[in-house]
Amino acid sequence: MRLTDKVNEAARVLTICNACRYCEGHCAVFQAMELRLEFNADNLDYMANLCHNCGACYHNCQYAPPHEFNLNVPAALAELRQENYGVFAWPGFMGKLFTNNGLWVTLLSVLIITAFIVGTSLTVGEDFFQTHDNAFYGIIPHNNLVAIFGSVGAFVAIALLASITKFWQTMRLPNPFSLDWGRVMQGVKDALTLKYLDGGNGQGCSYPDETPSMSRRWFHQFTFWGFMLCFAATSAGTIMHYAFALPAPYDFISLPKVLGVLGGIGLIVGPLGLLHIKAKATPDVKGKTNKGMDVSFLVLLLLTSITGLILMAVRDTALVGIMLSLHLGVVLTLFLSMPYGKFIHGFYRLIALIVFAIEKEKHEAIVGVDIPEKE
Ligand code: HEM
Ligand code: SF4
Ligand code: SF4
Repeated sequence: MRLTDKVNEAARVLTICNACRYCEGHCAVFQAMELRLEFNADNLDYMANLCHNCGACYHNCQYAPPHEFNLNVPAALAELRQENYGVFAWPGFMGKLFTNNGLWVTLLSVLIITAFIVGTSLTVGEDFFQTHDNAFYGIIPHNNLVAIFGSVGAFVAIALLASITKFWQTMRLPNPFSLDWGRVMQGVKDALTLKYLDGGNGQGCSYPDETPSMSRRWFHQFTFWGFMLCFAATSAGTIMHYAFALPAPYDFISLPKVLGVLGGIGLIVGPLGLLHIKAKATPDVKGKTNKGMDVSFLVLLLLTSITGLILMAVRDTALVGIMLSLHLGVVLTLFLSMPYGKFIHGFYRLIALIVFAIEKEKHEAIVGVDIPEKE
C-alpha cells in the first residue's frame, strides 16, 4: 500500500480529528472517519474524494496554525486528491501529468490550437478567409472530423474507464452490480445537489473566505449543467446526422442549437464565477499544488463556450474558418485533458458519495475491507 508524505500527513491530521470530533456535524468526511480506527492510503483516498474543500473545518479548528499541531484538513485532503488522481491514471505513466498540470494543459492547448489553424488554412488555402455556403464541412470535411474526434474520444473513454476501474479495485469496493440501488441514488443525489458544499449548517461553505456563502455551489451548478447541456447538444447533432440524415449547420430553433446556447451560457457564467471566487479564496484551504489544475480546467471550459458561441454568430461571415479552427482546437484539448486533469474529480467524487451513502446506512466501513469469498 502507498506510504507517501501526503498519505502520512492526511493520516496524522485525521487521527487527531478522530480524537477531537468537534467537526463531526460538518460533512461526510468526519462521519466516514468515525467508522474507522486506522487510516491508510485506501480509506484516505476515499475520504479525500469525499471532502468538498468547503473550508468549514479549517476555520473552526482550534488546532489550525499557528497552533503547534498545524492542522489543516482541507489542504491535506486536497493535496492527497491530487496525488491519487495520478495514482489511478491510465496508462500509469500518464499520472505524472497531474504534476504541473496547469503548465502542460496550457502547452497542449497552444500546440493543438496552432495545429488546427495551420492545418485547416493549408488545406483550405485561399478560401480560409472566405464565407462558406456549406459552412463547417467546407472548411473541415465531415470524415476528417469524425476520424480526429472519434479516435480521441475512444481513447479518452477507455482511459477514463480504466482509471475508474483502478480506483474501484484499489479500494477493494464490492461488485457495482451488488450495490443497493437506493443508496446509489442517494449518492447520485448528493453529488448532483453538491450537498456538502452547504457547510454542514445549510448556510453555505466558508469559501472564498470565512463568511458562509452558497456562491461556489451555484457557480459549480452553472458549470456542471452547462457542460451537460453542451454534451447533450453534441449528442443531439450526432443523432440527427446519422439517424435522420440531417447534417449541420442547424437552425437557431433546433435541439442542438437550443441546448448548445443554454449550455454555452452556463459554461460562461459558471467558470467566470468560479475563477472570480478562486482569486479571492483564502489560499490555506486548497493545498499548495492544485491551483494550476483548477485554473487551466476552468479556462478551457470558458474558452470552449466563448469560441462556440462566437462561431455560431460568425457562421455566415469570412471569420468562420478561423473561429472553427479555434473552437475545435479548444474542444480537442479539453477532450484530451479529461483523463489527466480536473475533469476526473467528478467520477471519483460520485463514487465516494455512493460508497458513503452505503456506509452511512450500514453504519460500517466498506472501503479497503476485503470482500469475503463466496461460500
Ligand atoms: C459527480 C459530479 C461532480 C461533483 C460531486 C463535483 C464536485 C466538486 C467539488 C466538491 C468541487 C470543489 C472542490 C475541488 O476543487 O475539487 C469541484 C470543483 C470543480 N468542479 Fe466539480 N464536481 C462534479 C462534476 C463536475 C463536472 C462534470 C464539471 C465540469 C465539466 C465540474 C467542474 C468543476 C470545476 C471547474 C471545479 C473547480 C472549481 C474551483 O476551482 O473552484 N465538476 N467539483
Ligand atoms: S478539524 Fe480541528 S476541530 Fe475539527 S475535528 Fe479536526 S481537530 Fe477537531
Ligand atoms: S473542508 Fe469541508 S468538506 Fe472538507 S473535510 Fe472540512 S468540512 Fe468536510
